[in-house]
Amino acid sequence: MSARVNRQIILAARPHGNPKESDFEIVERPVPVPGDGQVLVRNILVSLDPFNRILMGNANSDQTPIALGDTMFGFTVAVVEQSDNPAFAVGAHVAGFTGATGWQDYAVSDGSDLRVVDPDAAPLAANLGVLGVTGLTAWVGLTKILDPKPGGTLVVTAAAGAVGSAAAQIGKLRGYRVVGIAGGPEKTRHLLDDLGLDAAADYKAPDFAEQLARAVPDGIDTLYENVGVALFPALPAHLNRNAQVALGGVMSQITRTGAFEGPDHLPDLLRAAIYKTLTIRGFNVTEFYDYYPEFLADLAPAVATQKLHYSTHVIEGLEAIPVAFPEMFTGRVAGKMIAKIG
Ligand SMILES: NC(=O)c1ccc[n+]([C@@H]2O[C@H](COP(=O)([O-])OP(=O)(O)OC[C@H]3O[C@@H](n4cnc5c(N)ncnc54)[C@H](OP(=O)(O)O)[C@@H]3O)[C@@H](O)[C@H]2O)c1
Repeated sequence: MSARVNRQIILAARPHGNPKESDFEIVERPVPVPGDGQVLVRNILVSLDPFNRILMGNANSDQTPIALGDTMFGFTVAVVEQSDNPAFAVGAHVAGFTGATGWQDYAVSDGSDLRVVDPDAAPLAANLGVLGVTGLTAWVGLTKILDPKPGGTLVVTAAAGAVGSAAAQIGKLRGYRVVGIAGGPEKTRHLLDDLGLDAAADYKAPDFAEQLARAVPDGIDTLYENVGVALFPALPAHLNRNAQVALGGVMSQITRTGAFEGPDHLPDLLRAAIYKTLTIRGFNVTEFYDYYPEFLADLAPAVATQKLHYSTHVIEGLEAIPVAFPEMFTGRVAGKMIAKIG
């Protein structure tokens, strides 16, 4: 590395709707100097997540956005370059899991937001996806929020996405009958052929209602919802009595700023909730970080033995992030979106 500058992606403008390249600016600042007990890390992989759009503001979220001019928050995998903290040796690989290490080349940390990762245990990128906050979200949904019945039918929406594909496979590993819902035949083929789900339904197909009915002949016992359009209009009718629903995400609604446009299916859901005595529970993974060791012990072996598959969509270079990130909101990206920056 020649010039010791810290390239940072800052928030230049708050988006309206989908983010765009001009919402970001790349600035060069001095490399930060670590203080007592701190470490200097050099980011090599940066995670791009729906959460980043929420932090940009004008999002359909209760999350406080970052300030204009602030460096974009983001989960990263980094190498320790300097250390005054005995828990982090120089040269060690670490994952930043609060987002504070951010969309930049270098960051200083007291270590409280870092964990050491073993580059021989799994590809480094897995620590941002299936073994990172993405995987933890899926695992929390299936183990701490839902309590699926063995052999029962679990439906996962946005099942080909980063969180959804992990949730669906965790469901398979635990012996549930898993049905994935995704947009387009390529994605539903992936769910069946690569992830080994029991059935899949393409919500963009004109015959989605029929596909879904065929996929869940015994109804739905548990639903992991990632999309957030009143749980897809077709789903409540298939929910079984006492079914459980985890609300993990509202992907289709993140960029909405005005009133919801389109048919309102909330009354159908509320009626189903009463007459089918549903349990519907939302969750925020940041409140479950203490479970990380249990999650890792549970899932890392499945990742190492390739019983749990994951795919990544890797872009090259920090400067590519402002161009690539908006793609996330088109539904065209398949796999966990990661930028390789060092
Ligand atoms: N609760 C938590 O703590 C927590 C933590 C992490 C993530 N999340 C949430 O989990 C959800 C999934 O995250 P992820 O990382 O898996 O995202 P991702 O990999 O980008 O997948 C999201 C998928 O959502 C589907 N989708 C449906 N409507 C969409 C729309 N209007 N625009 C774009 N995509 C749309 C797309 O698949 P199709 O083409 O199949 O529609 C897309 O692949 C997000 O809502 C995220 O905010 C929640």
